[in-house]
Amino acid sequence: MSFQNQPFVRLTDPAKDAGPLFDVCKKTVGPALRAGIPNLIAPYIWNVPYLRLCPEYCFSVDDGDGNAVGYVICAPNTAEFVTKWREEYLPVLESLDPLLKQPEMDPPADWSLDITLGVLQLLYNPEDMLHAVCPRLLEEYPAHLHIDILPEYQRRGFGKMLMEALWGRLRVAGIGGLHLVMEGRNVDAERFYKAIGYSRFDEVVDEGKSGELGKDVNGNLWMVKKL
Ligand SMILES: CC(C)(COP(=O)(O)OP(=O)(O)OC[C@H]1O[C@@H](n2cnc3c(N)ncnc32)[C@H](O)[C@@H]1OP(=O)(O)O)[C@@H](O)C(=O)NCCC(=O)NCCS
Repeated sequence: MSFQNQPFVRLTDPAKDAGPLFDVCKKTVGPALRAGIPNLIAPYIWNVPYLRLCPEYCFSVDDGDGNAVGYVICAPNTAEFVTKWREEYLPVLESLDPLLKQPEMDPPADWSLDITLGVLQLLYNPEDMLHAVCPRLLEEYPAHLHIDILPEYQRRGFGKMLMEALWGRLRVAGIGGLHLVMEGRNVDAERFYKAIGYSRFDEVVDEGKSGELGKDVNGNLWMVKKL
């Protein structure tokens, strides 16, 4: 392989990268969402809004030939991002894909029975990202992120490189901390985050159900890092 074909990390170019990164999200999302309609909707929650609302905080792994094969995407201020999601993103959703029609929001979906309803309700309820049960999370760690890399580019140091690029950008902007929410059973991801300096949020946030630090009522883990 010639030098110029080596993969590298660069700022995301939404005009060029949106399609490939949509596919990266579909392929790397948690197992329960990897098929059917939920798989088509998932990127509209965990990828598209970041490229549309805060592209200057999104970095890609480039395969060396211009193709994006992984990303870290970030909202530098989660509270402001939630407002933009509601005011700028929700109104255009149905024009992006007719599947994205607003569902009945009440009662909340039982995810074990209807995952499609679950993801649609999440899409239309960005306030979930405010984690109102624990305001200290956003006060101390206002930014949040998602990171995903195609399997053939994993374990080659690109996850760490994406994070370093993002941390640098956030520091320049004066952001003091960031958080992420991950599936509790994704043990590989937890090892990755811990290896590069994240730790679990230092409070019990599931009303004592598990007693574990940083584990919420849905079994998801809150990981945090000061910058
Ligand atoms: C999680 C993910 C982003 C990590 O990125 P990556 O490029 O594979 O990780 P890196 O190669 O930069 O790893 C950096 C360090 O983290 C640790 N690490 C990474 N993956 C690990 C794993 N599966 N098990 C144990 N440690 C791991 C290691 O210490 C590693 O350093 P080393 O390879 O020198 O030992 C990537 O594997 C991925 O996209 N996975 C699938 C989707 C996913 O789970 N996303 C996160 C959702 S919350």
